[in-house]
Amino acid sequence: MLGQTRWGTVTCACETQAREAEEKAKQAREWLTLCHEFTSRDKLISKADLDPNTKRAGSANAMRIAYNFVDTYIQWQREKPGLGLYLNGPNGLGKTYILSGIYKALMGRNISAVFMTTYHMFQRFREVAKVDDYDYEKRLLKVLYGCDVLLLDDIGGEVPYDSRAEKLLDVINARSQKRPIIYSSNFTTDGLEQWMGNQGARIADRILENSITITLQGESLRGGINDRHHDWLAGRVKGLG
Ligand SMILES: Nc1ncnc2c1ncn2[C@@H]1O[C@H](COP(=O)(O)OP(=O)(O)OP(=O)(O)O)[C@@H](O)[C@H]1O
Ligand SMILES: [Mg+2]
Repeated sequence: MLGQTRWGTVTCACETQAREAEEKAKQAREWLTLCHEFTSRDKLISKADLDPNTKRAGSANAMRIAYNFVDTYIQWQREKPGLGLYLNGPNGLGKTYILSGIYKALMGRNISAVFMTTYHMFQRFREVAKVDDYDYEKRLLKVLYGCDVLLLDDIGGEVPYDSRAEKLLDVINARSQKRPIIYSSNFTTDGLEQWMGNQGARIADRILENSITITLQGESLRGGINDRHHDWLAGRVKGLG
């Protein structure tokens, strides 16, 4: 070259392919790690498991649908891109349990998922605004817009300032008809519309467009858990009246 002899390494095609595959796998691992980093890990129910054969009245349908969502995720997205679920109902029926189960099952299949309480999501937006940390904000938005499945726990459980509702609307819009959101809430979509103030109607309308609403019914499971605390205590402290 230009009158000089130059030596260089020649890489065969298969070696290049292997290197590219390795690089892709590394990026995929990093992406899953980032999603896990933004997950409200302390709010996940770690024992949660999706059991399609559950007989628990009032929540069995929700559990079976959640199982189907994960089990046939690729097909589900091909046929209904961006279609998620809106699980609603009173306290203690297993909504967070189901969202946790979906999160664990998806991540176990290398499908990028983020589980966040809505309160936590708003808190992160607030932190970002306070310190003007653009890099952090970029990563937060990348995760909220881009993860395969966003699990938003307890929507409506936070104080609904309009500026917060706008952030939520923005995330919903970014994912609409592309990547699903799975919500849990104590509100029906009508109730949420009232609760969310000026943006309520826009939010509820888009939730209806992008998700299947499932209402859980029954008595809080926490009552039974409390009974077991009493049984345990009775085993330790004899002769309680
Ligand atoms: N299928 C299940 N198997 C075993 N335990 C469960 C199941 N579903 C829920 N639980 C337990 O019942 C309790 C209440 O469940 P969870 O927190 O998911 O309710 P929730 O509907 O999210 O309530 P809230 O509306 O108050 O947030 C938790 O301790 C949870 O671990
Ligand atoms: Mg909950």
